[in-house]
Amino acid sequence: MARILIADDHAGLRDVLVETLGSSGHDVKGVATGDAARDALEVEDYDLLVTDLRMPGLDGLALLQHVRARSNPVQTIVMTAHGTVETAVRAMHLGALDYVEKPFPLSAMEAKVQKALEKISLQEENRRLRDAEDAHFGQLTGASPPMRHVFDLITRVAETPTPVLILGESGTGKELVSREIHRRSPRRDGPFVAVNCAALAEGVLESELFGHERGAFTGATQLKRGKFELADKGTLFLDEVGEIPPATQVKLLRFLQEKEVERVGGSKVIKVDVRIVCATNRDLKAEIERGRFREDLFYRINVISIVLPPLRERREDIPLLVDALLSGHSQSTGLSGSVTEDAMTLLQMYEWPGNVRELENVLERALVLSSPGPDGHRRISPVDLPQEIRGGEGDAGAQREYLEATGLMAQIERIEREIIRKALEECAWNQSKAAKALHLKRSSLQYKMKKYNLEKRPEGGAA
Ligand SMILES: Nc1ncnc2c1ncn2[C@@H]1O[C@H](COP(=O)(O)OP(=O)(O)OP(=O)(O)O)[C@@H](O)[C@H]1O
Ligand SMILES: [Mg+2]
Repeated sequence: MARILIADDHAGLRDVLVETLGSSGHDVKGVATGDAARDALEVEDYDLLVTDLRMPGLDGLALLQHVRARSNPVQTIVMTAHGTVETAVRAMHLGALDYVEKPFPLSAMEAKVQKALEKISLQEENRRLRDAEDAHFGQLTGASPPMRHVFDLITRVAETPTPVLILGESGTGKELVSREIHRRSPRRDGPFVAVNCAALAEGVLESELFGHERGAFTGATQLKRGKFELADKGTLFLDEVGEIPPATQVKLLRFLQEKEVERVGGSKVIKVDVRIVCATNRDLKAEIERGRFREDLFYRINVISIVLPPLRERREDIPLLVDALLSGHSQSTGLSGSVTEDAMTLLQMYEWPGNVRELENVLERALVLSSPGPDGHRRISPVDLPQEIRGGEGDAGAQREYLEATGLMAQIERIEREIIRKALEECAWNQSKAAKALHLKRSSLQYKMKKYNLEKRPEGGAA
């Protein structure tokens, strides 16, 4: 269904068009003058304008000029009188999509409208894809302000050899960010070596990082080069850096000060050129206070820090992540799927203690549970989601009752109304734009505008 505006001073033709296009399922409004069309376009969103050229007052060409000057110009089909092709050509120059010469059979107009709408939806799809492209930064997905800030920081630190500390809850993408820093750095052709400092026992970690000489300890039957040596000219990612035991912290500090390492059981000094990126989900300041982490080491590794926001603080990224994760999944498994609007709402409301990793797991599971359509495409709906995401113990009715009984519902609605009003104002009451900013369908936005009695008031009066 599309929203179509018809402008023609000839009532007979106008009514017939409104009726015909309306009966093909479109939402059609008719106006008698160019001025009325301009006013209608100001307050409402239309997908298509069908306008006569010769009208009293603002004529079709002037209307087109006005339309083209708008930030979000509506696509237009013009109707010209028989034998005035030059005006039609001028209209096309002014950006009209197509023209029809009067008189025309209604079927011809229907076909033109159909074709125009297909073209418009294709353009919209392209725009959506372009926007989605903007939301990708290497392997990372996100368009929220905190993620854009993270992307910006990555770009800037990648250039430098300075140590970086990545902070964030589990599953927020710390490892992914460390790889992106390497990939964008001048060391990109060198090795990227990752060590999980939490996974190894004390002595093992030390010889893993620094290597050992043959005979350094029982079982050291051969010389072993450490990760520092292996990461020469590249990047060493020390994951869970907060877990490094004190003796190894000292060796790490020495590397950071002198750019040299010594194998366990050896005395030879080995110069290495390694960029260090560390990550932790621990509060290192608290670890320092408890005496478990060296303060001098903390300052050395924390020259620049990148803090990854938890997913619940960037819910607007969830639809983008869902798209990216599902398409990545379909490439690796061949299972293609998408998420219904209801399921998406639930995903956006959930708290995500496990962040993006948890979202990844939930989608993978839901994809398997969902039933494929005849074309093999799977639609993930609320029943495919785990109980905790569907809404804990109670059903939606019980939750609503609880919220209403505690007075929280009114508060939630007040907040929702305010968010929607702000978005509308920021988008100059353009419903398509506001709906997009709010990640709502336009119909849902219109429903909520009605529910909350939101409409544009003249003279900046509060709605
Ligand atoms: N912004 C993002 N865009 C796309 N995928 C992401 C993003 N952030 C994380 N992921 C994905 O989520 C998963 C977890 O990311 P990663 O391993 O980098 O997190 P982490 O912070 O290192 O987690 P942990 O603390 O548990 O080690 C990975 O599969 C990663 O690909
Ligand atoms: Mg990790």
